[in-house]
Amino acid sequence: MKSAHQFVVDKTDLAAHAMVEHELPALAEGDVLAKVDRFAITANNITYGVVGERIGYWKFFPVAEAGKGIIPVWGFADIVESRNQDISEGERLYGYWPMGSHLVMTPTKVKPSRLMDGVAHRAELPPVYNAYSRVRAEDGYDPAMDDERMVLYPLYATSYCLYDFSKDNDWFGAAQVIIPSASSKTAIGTAYAFKEDPAAPKLVGVTSARNEEAVLALDLYDDVILYDDIETGIDSAIPALIIDMSGNGPIIGRLHRLLGENMRYTSNVGITHYDAGGMDGDYIQERSAMFFAPGHIQKRTAEWGPGVFEKKAFGFWKNAAIQSRGWLKIERSEGAGALARVYEEVLAGKTAANVGHVVAL
Ligand SMILES: NC(=O)c1ccc[n+]([C@@H]2O[C@H](COP(=O)([O-])OP(=O)(O)OC[C@H]3O[C@@H](n4cnc5c(N)ncnc54)[C@H](OP(=O)(O)O)[C@@H]3O)[C@@H](O)[C@H]2O)c1
Repeated sequence: MKSAHQFVVDKTDLAAHAMVEHELPALAEGDVLAKVDRFAITANNITYGVVGERIGYWKFFPVAEAGKGIIPVWGFADIVESRNQDISEGERLYGYWPMGSHLVMTPTKVKPSRLMDGVAHRAELPPVYNAYSRVRAEDGYDPAMDDERMVLYPLYATSYCLYDFSKDNDWFGAAQVIIPSASSKTAIGTAYAFKEDPAAPKLVGVTSARNEEAVLALDLYDDVILYDDIETGIDSAIPALIIDMSGNGPIIGRLHRLLGENMRYTSNVGITHYDAGGMDGDYIQERSAMFFAPGHIQKRTAEWGPGVFEKKAFGFWKNAAIQSRGWLKIERSEGAGALARVYEEVLAGKTAANVGHVVAL
């Protein structure tokens, strides 16, 4: 038996983590063993942990010990052992991995440039997370963009969903789009997507004092307002769509109180401020709803046919990722100690807004 290791966290206390050794089982007929090469860590991965129970993120890579879980990450892995006739050793995949060294997979629906992990316990989970790209067979695969693909693709694909959803709803009648946690990469991607459309409403980024400079330097938002200045900086006479990455109850409450009837719709996308407290009495629940990108992708797949949304989102990501090279600094690190350090830094919200972490174990 081969030994492997996993970065295991306490489901109710994400600050409690440990690298745990485990034995890999012998492969069953049809299975493959993937060795995780490298992956990105952003606030999005912390959110997977925060809502792990509610949305089901702990179910992807379950561990035996009660109360413990593995946070999923986006990255690349290489097939190091195969008992599947369609997949050879040396194959490289992009997709959703455990924070750990290996994953036993059961490839299914194998296409030249794509496969699904058909392992039984993932069958009920959103297909977007179960799909893997066989990158070497992809049209126009460019390894020089691997870092941006790990850090930005899952986030900018969501950004594209948010643009598509907002446009599809005629911007909810808004003439301004207010984006709290404007320095997050999902917010920045959303700003790129809206900016490409001359018909889109103006963009107001709301951020913290420490990230103001980074947000201003992007030159993407029409206005940049600090959390402290919401009441004086935002024009409440303009109908607004809020695309919220922060999940910060008091901040959303202040925005809803200020805008009143002009708060046309709030899309609850993220919870970067996961420790700020939930929605309060000012929250206008009847015009707010959670946004779940995998759900939007499934809806578009049903409407447009398989692969069409992915093609559009991939094109958008590539273009926006190339533009992002002007500000994004990829920080690469290696080893179990580095993973623990990066994880703790991202969990504490201490990562600079222009940094994207990539870790190899
Ligand atoms: N619903 C969906 O389908 C979906 C899909 C993708 C992503 N998302 C969500 O979108 C959010 C953004 O993810 P991301 O990976 O793009 O984030 P990111 O780039 O890592 O964002 C970092 C930013 O978040 C804020 N922040 C992070 N940690 C914080 C902390 N502990 N305390 C206070 N502020 C903190 C800061 O922004 P400010 O100073 O500007 O507030 C910081 O610059 C996540 O919650 C993610 O799960 C949702």
